[in-house]
Amino acid sequence: MKFYSCGPLKGEVTVPGDKSVSHRGVMFGSIAKGTTEIHNFLQGADCLSTIACFRQMGIEIENHNDTVLVHGNGLRGLKKPDGTLDCGNSGTTARLICGILSGQDFSCTLTGDASIQKRPMKRIITPLSQMGAKLRSLRDNGCVPLEITGTKLHSVSYASPVASAQVKSAVLLAGLYGDGITQVTEPYVSRNHTELMLRCFGADVRTEGTKAVIHPAEELYGQNILVPGDISSAAFFIAAGLIVPGSEILIRNVGINPTRNGILKVCKSMGADLVLLNENQDAGEPTADILVKSSSLHGIEIGGAVIPTLIDELPVIAAMACFAEGETVIRDAAELKVKESNRIEVMVRNLSAMGADVTETEDGMIIRGGKPLHGAVLESKSDHRIAMTFAVAACLADGETEILGAECVNISYPGFYKDLERLKKQAFTN
Ligand code: S3P
Repeated sequence: MKFYSCGPLKGEVTVPGDKSVSHRGVMFGSIAKGTTEIHNFLQGADCLSTIACFRQMGIEIENHNDTVLVHGNGLRGLKKPDGTLDCGNSGTTARLICGILSGQDFSCTLTGDASIQKRPMKRIITPLSQMGAKLRSLRDNGCVPLEITGTKLHSVSYASPVASAQVKSAVLLAGLYGDGITQVTEPYVSRNHTELMLRCFGADVRTEGTKAVIHPAEELYGQNILVPGDISSAAFFIAAGLIVPGSEILIRNVGINPTRNGILKVCKSMGADLVLLNENQDAGEPTADILVKSSSLHGIEIGGAVIPTLIDELPVIAAMACFAEGETVIRDAAELKVKESNRIEVMVRNLSAMGADVTETEDGMIIRGGKPLHGAVLESKSDHRIAMTFAVAACLADGETEILGAECVNISYPGFYKDLERLKKQAFTN
């Protein structure tokens, strides 16, 4: 797909529902009693993989686009699937489902696409095995395909070496089937959607700083869920609005959960003209409209506790830093290497191809802003966030930018290019 530099972006956009919250709605609804109604569900390929997996385990799920109805069968009501469960490209599906499958009374196998087959699953195999679960990497490489044999689980206190909501959530979900109190501590707080939503479903779960604690459950109960707009999708319009001169974009109804909103803090520190309007709250998930206006940005250091709160936004933050004055240092972000692609390597390669001054480091990158970017032919590596990042960078790059494999945005934001184009056109007609 080809992209060209553009004038100011203007207008309003409503980004699709949050991916993390949509996944969890289907998963928790499936193991709850009664019907769970999910509104503003993200119809991206990742969340559809979660629906397909639970349907295969006998859960009736009605997908009416905006609204999804999950007719749960209770905590012990899943059925042994006929074939292999396929997580597609979705790490959240793969890791969280293992927590649930560990506590069932059947065995099954789990696989995914080429990218998922390379992503580390040992990080959940280790704690789940400590709980007594039986998970076997069939190629003995710590990745899917995995064979999971459900069994009786023991509760543990697990100190996770990584700040990962997927690891934390897998252990907490297994903890629902445990024989006592299960605890997970992580180096920094990761996104807390599991804790917030499980509480609504009736689980006894609480958090103390970086520790999450859960008790075994008798039953969970179906809920009504209103999914906020995904801040990880909004991030592309935040960045575009800030860097393209003369832009003004209002992004409606975005989830601004403090464990996810690091991008807002970073943009503010870089000098962004960004305001929150119509702040609201539903089931513990805060939302707001975000108004961004093009701004003169300056480089900053990004590292430590803020990293898990903006981990998926780092590619577009790196692109934004190319248009900021001075140096931006991203550190403590080695997790980027094990996402849908090695996002440090891919970002550095693609930004360099566009003429940016960027250096790869062990756990991040250093970007010296101010060098003009030019178009190039770029590999998305089938990574949705990389494709969207470079569609944004192309707005300010001289000449033609071609993104290979651009259709991978279907994973989290099927209508992304249309929305971006509309904001470009709206500016033209204003
Ligand atoms: C997610 C957690 C994060 C994030 C991913 C979604 C989740 O992964 O990058 O896109 O829904 O729990 P990690 O837990 O590996 O950090």
